[in-house]
Amino acid sequence: MLSRKKEDYLEVIYNLVQKKGYARIKDIANALNVKSPSASEMLEKLQAEGLVSHKKYDCATLTSEGARIAKSVRQRHEIFETFLKIIYVSDKTAEKDACTLEHHLASETIRQFSKFVLFIKGFKGTPRFFEHFRRFCKTGKLPKCVKKR
Ligand code: FE2
Repeated sequence: MLSRKKEDYLEVIYNLVQKKGYARIKDIANALNVKSPSASEMLEKLQAEGLVSHKKYDCATLTSEGARIAKSVRQRHEIFETFLKIIYVSDKTAEKDACTLEHHLASETIRQFSKFVLFIKGFKGTPRFFEHFRRFCKTGKLPKCVKKR
């Protein structure tokens, strides 16, 4: 398994390529809050591992294996970001925390989160349970249908 740091680089390169069509070292460094020389150093390592194919004109691209890993990280990110928004975490925090969760949980847990998100999104409109939950988050009051403990 790759380190969180390496997965983050692959994810950022993937996102930049999706968005702009290319991933400049400067943009990679900015997205990860590191200096360009550190990003360059990491890209060298990823290249040696066969995950980043080349760095021409200060740009990096993913090999097919790098893209496969990046897509998987991105998928995990989307599962957690969606889940966090479902439970009314703010967009900004959901984005940030999805990036933490995507690296640290067992694949069984991720699978169950994924199933849960799919299940919830399968409903038309907001399931009643969530209406109650949203009200509870706002007011701190449990609905009458929930027993107090
Ligand atoms: Fe992420």
